[in-house]
Amino acid sequence: MSRYDTCWLPSEPLPGRHTFFLDPAATGPVVEGIRRELKTSLAAVEAGEANASLILRLARNLSPEGFAIHWESKACIIDAGGETGLLYGLYAVIRRLSLDGAPPSGSCYEAPACDIRMLDHWDMLSGEIERGYAGKSIFYDQGTFLNDFRRIEDYARILASIGINAVSLNNVNVKPEHISLMLPDGLRAARAYCDIFRRYGIRSFLSVNFASPMIAGGLASADPLREDVRAWWREAAARVCDALPGFGGFLIKADSEGEPGPHTYGRTHAEGANMLADALAPHGGLVIWRCFVYNYMQDWRDRTTDRAKAAWETFAPLDGQFRNNAVLQVKFGPLDFQIREPVSPLIGALRRTNLVVELQITQEYTGQQRHICYLAPQWKEVLNFDTYAQDRESTVARLIAGKQRHGLAAVASTGRDYNWTGHKLAQANLYAFGRLAWNPSLTAADILTEWIAQTFALPPALDARLFDMMLHSRDVYEAYTVPLGVCFMCRPESHYGPSVDGYEYDRWGTYHFADRDGVGNDRTALTGTGFTAQYHEPNRSAYENIGTCPDALLLFFHHVPYTHRLHSGKTVIQHIYDSHFDGVESVERYVRHWEAFSGSMPDADFENVRARLQEQLRCAKEWRDQINTYFYRKSGIGDERGRTIYP
Ligand code: GCU
Repeated sequence: MSRYDTCWLPSEPLPGRHTFFLDPAATGPVVEGIRRELKTSLAAVEAGEANASLILRLARNLSPEGFAIHWESKACIIDAGGETGLLYGLYAVIRRLSLDGAPPSGSCYEAPACDIRMLDHWDMLSGEIERGYAGKSIFYDQGTFLNDFRRIEDYARILASIGINAVSLNNVNVKPEHISLMLPDGLRAARAYCDIFRRYGIRSFLSVNFASPMIAGGLASADPLREDVRAWWREAAARVCDALPGFGGFLIKADSEGEPGPHTYGRTHAEGANMLADALAPHGGLVIWRCFVYNYMQDWRDRTTDRAKAAWETFAPLDGQFRNNAVLQVKFGPLDFQIREPVSPLIGALRRTNLVVELQITQEYTGQQRHICYLAPQWKEVLNFDTYAQDRESTVARLIAGKQRHGLAAVASTGRDYNWTGHKLAQANLYAFGRLAWNPSLTAADILTEWIAQTFALPPALDARLFDMMLHSRDVYEAYTVPLGVCFMCRPESHYGPSVDGYEYDRWGTYHFADRDGVGNDRTALTGTGFTAQYHEPNRSAYENIGTCPDALLLFFHHVPYTHRLHSGKTVIQHIYDSHFDGVESVERYVRHWEAFSGSMPDADFENVRARLQEQLRCAKEWRDQINTYFYRKSGIGDERGRTIYP
């Protein structure tokens, strides 16, 4: 048995006799990837153009990553603007063949919507992964490179098959020992990984520490306006880019959660980012600068400071001041990858700055890959959200699509587990992320259908059952966890399981303010922190006004009495009870329904999900009981339906 599975790619060559002709004008590293894929997924042998069943041709009038496919009676022709487009076209053919069985007909043209389609790995040299739930790192172990090249290559294939074109190779919290990645020995080792990714059209990035000139260069300062600091970065960028052909650039978390940054020197984030951008520009590199900046030493007694406001306050005034090769990476919500948050108002505030929206595939706050939680519905809400940043349609999808140096990034969910993501069903989130970055107009349901069909060979009844379980699993997770967008009722540090007051008197700025009368954050401009004012109209008024604020986000924006009536007609307190009882019942159904899958997939996959569902049920009950009891004790209001709430 192999050491890992192939996710949605075929585990053995697809049936049929495949012959291929590859345009001799195609050159460069991606050609190796194409050949490997033709062999691995199709067992295709090379033939002359006249006899080939698959013809891959360069058509320079198409965009480098775009492709056209024509299914003709004797052959399938892939035309693409560049080698990477040919590779993507090949994966599209493999997908169609795995989905349809028989060779399809007709033509199609595709090009990726987003220029940047990136996975951020929070892997560390120790082999641990920050917020990783699928085993240890596939890149590193015990302070050094793991050098499991075969596995990295299969990983690159998996990523390229869904259109990922950039990866960062190390955690954004760059511990001092990670500086070695930028030094000659580290670079020699990193080169092997970068070369593999390059064969699949994927550019590698390194996360860097803003204080590197001090840590590695012995300088007294990291002030971005000092000439010695700038010179250090120029030299470092040149060294890294020389050592790593096709290198993408630097990813950086600065002035955030203890990481150093330009604020130490009284400089702005634009000054910090531009210094790195200038150093990388001669080599064609990008600096991807994260906007996850807030005061993490807050005082809960101070109701005027609002963490949700911080990113906008820091970055919106700098719009237009960043270099052309600098990109701001903004988390999708104003807090931190919660199961329900409004879309960050910063996204609609950056009109003249390159923008990447950051999602989280690793399920830090959404069940840590022990709970089934298909996240594409959440991501679709983000992509479809209209920021009203411009007169014409300005959904998030519109803002990040069709522009150079814009796109989507996500924190990766992958590790050394046999199935890469902790369990088989969690692969769907990785798949969905890639597909949405390629084409944000795909629906969560279509992507799920596609993923199930490629991943399993289930009879139709089970196919439908799995689809049903997964499509609504985000709603189910939300139902038994944090109500109405109030955020952070999880255990501190681990972020797994309930702890209603776990963060309430802490320094992180994530409070729910429950008292005997009510719960929620007043973020209105009229009586609260004024966060609503960061949105463009009509969103601003919609959130400001309790009558128009969506139920799902009510407690994010308002502090309301437990007896407040939602648009659904229920009171807040009754909603809390109902959703928590319903959520657990849904998981009980998952547990029962899963039994039917026995024998329809390898035992190890079945048992693995089965065990995780047991844990999901245990944890869902814990959430239900702690949340219900907490609010019962606070409010003194019982459940209308008289179900068990522990006093
Ligand atoms: C969250 C997460 C951290 C991570 C941080 C980030 O706060 O808990 O582990 O470092 O996000 O995005 O930088």
